[in-house]
Amino acid sequence: MNSPSTHTGRVAVVTGAAGGFGTAIATELARRGADIIAVDLNPADKTVAAVQEAGRKALALQADLTDPQQVEAITAEMLEFAGHVDILINNAGAFPFRDIWELDFAEWKRIQGINLDSQFLMAKAVMGSMRDGSWGRIVNLASNSLGLAVRDMVPYMAAKGGVIGFTRALATDLAPHGITVNAVCPTASSTPGGKDFIGDEVLEMVAGMQAIKRVGTATDIVGTVCFLSSDDSAFVTGQTIVADGGLMRV
Ligand SMILES: NC(=O)c1ccc[n+]([C@@H]2O[C@H](COP(=O)([O-])OP(=O)(O)OC[C@H]3O[C@@H](n4cnc5c(N)ncnc54)[C@H](O)[C@@H]3O)[C@@H](O)[C@H]2O)c1
Repeated sequence: MNSPSTHTGRVAVVTGAAGGFGTAIATELARRGADIIAVDLNPADKTVAAVQEAGRKALALQADLTDPQQVEAITAEMLEFAGHVDILINNAGAFPFRDIWELDFAEWKRIQGINLDSQFLMAKAVMGSMRDGSWGRIVNLASNSLGLAVRDMVPYMAAKGGVIGFTRALATDLAPHGITVNAVCPTASSTPGGKDFIGDEVLEMVAGMQAIKRVGTATDIVGTVCFLSSDDSAFVTGQTIVADGGLMRV
């Protein structure tokens, strides 16, 4: 399939880009013309190879995005590589199930850090560059689990609810600078994280509750993320788009 040239000349930072949704998003953004900075705790070599195969430049950076000092260090490297950043896809996350009776404050904070603090730190790192260019797109990954009665997800759902509040408020503050901020809610999907944290049996069960009765894959959110990071969505901001096979209705 030929990809449209909707992102030609853009520089996109994709977090959690070593696999899963992150690799799928980075690859399609590159096919649409963007250079990619792939950030993850783990090496994002596979993603870099896919971006280069699409004919675009790629840089892989390893960092723990819950750590402000590590984010500061990669910010300098990002700007040195590309000169500026136009698009941030805040995709890094983790979704462990935790029994509320066993959950302690340290684990609560750790899960907030991965899913919410990382998005704040990365937005702060690149939004000045977007303001300088009077154009920017920030897309934050949330989750359709927020609309469901799933057990043992207190810290994760609290963080993803925070992502939606963060998205709405940041959209207001950044709009004067030509920067939009939106969130996307995927369904339980067969990414590496989906297989580890959720497991095949529950993935199939969730698929059975969706209007579209198949397990979500890494590529199922890519079109929505591409729309929200392109010129086409210039008048869309502060929104949460649910791309989940028709399970959660807003
Ligand atoms: N897959 C699903 O079922 C599902 C459903 C709803 C929402 N989501 C959300 O989509 C996003 C991506 O999910 P996925 O399924 O691709 O997950 P995944 O586990 O397959 O990939 C997540 C990536 O984030 C990276 N990461 C985790 N913590 C990090 C940190 N502190 N610093 C830097 N990188 C870090 C991991 O190394 C990994 O490569 C997450 O925000 C997740 O909450 C996923």
